[in-house]
Amino acid sequence: ALRSVVVGTGSCLPARVVTNAALAEQVDTSDEWIVQRTGIRQRHIADSDETTSVLGTRAARAALDDAGLTADDIDLVICATSTPDHTFPSTATQIQAALGIHQGAAFDLQAVCAGFVFAVSTADKFLTTGSARRALVIGAETFSRIVDWEDRTTCVLFGDGAGAVVLEAQEDADGRGVLSTSLRSDGRHREKLYVDGGPGSTGTTGRLRMEGRDVFRFAVGQVTDVIVEAFAQAGVTADELDWFVPHQANRRIIEASADKLAIAREKIVLTVDRHGNTSAASIPLALDVARRDGRIRAGDLVMIEAIGGGFSWGAALIRW
Ligand code: ACO
Repeated sequence: ALRSVVVGTGSCLPARVVTNAALAEQVDTSDEWIVQRTGIRQRHIADSDETTSVLGTRAARAALDDAGLTADDIDLVICATSTPDHTFPSTATQIQAALGIHQGAAFDLQAVCAGFVFAVSTADKFLTTGSARRALVIGAETFSRIVDWEDRTTCVLFGDGAGAVVLEAQEDADGRGVLSTSLRSDGRHREKLYVDGGPGSTGTTGRLRMEGRDVFRFAVGQVTDVIVEAFAQAGVTADELDWFVPHQANRRIIEASADKLAIAREKIVLTVDRHGNTSAASIPLALDVARRDGRIRAGDLVMIEAIGGGFSWGAALIRW
């Protein structure tokens, strides 16, 4: 049977770093409060010319280079984003054009912070059914453009960036590839985390609104169900896991989830301290960091998981 194997990763962060101390000059907050509640020490913030598609293109190019592939090899581009350059065309088609890819399909996928997991699951369906051969799966965001910079309860949490992986359909994958995915959504929770604008409401882009405490409680309480399901589907247990690569929203959510699942703390890949919450970009950014610094190696068992607006949440188990 066909398997979707990761053959390359890449990422891109805006050059500008904003520390907690710098934020404390703009809003009533402190480095101590932010670190204690979230684990975040700094985030990267895009300049005006660093749009979501620009960051996504750079991450995708790095992933292609890493895989030793060129534009001609890719026949599917999926970009997970909630901060597209434009309402349409999709960010994915702009990335496709910037990379010189002229075959196959390209589209955006919107599941907020869970977008990358949803995109991996979607690409896996295309690849394992033979509908595509090689997919660029990108998470790219510029949440700095939808954050309310006067709201200290949210603006300290987010950062910008992009990450990408290349998935390839392989017939004899030798146990490697995407082993299982589990996705869920429950739209009743809209009010907990949303953007108060859009073409059908205010006609403006709007700003991010969040009930932080409720999101925290739901995240810790609920996200483990998809992880448990992904393990069960693949027939493996948590102690066989090599790396746990969660959505990077908050250090306390991540550690509470890992503890609940009896995943050892040293198996957690944590980047929230340096990147902040980059929404759909956080997992592919963390994957790229952990692969390039030598932690994730061929044959390793990796769990990715995320929860975000909607709520939508999901997990995917990958043999690297
Ligand atoms: N600096 C200083 N004080 C602050 C700040 C700040 N940046 N923000 C809030 N406070 C104050 C509050 O006003 C409150 O003061 P009060 O007690 O006088 O009313 C106090 O700090 C405590 O506020 P809480 O909201 O109770 O703080 P909590 O411990 O819940 O931490 C946080 C807040 C970090 C937002 C937490 O609830 C959280 O992490 N929630 C999950 C949010 C999240 O991760 N969202 C993203 C997931 S989905 C996605 O990625 C899109």
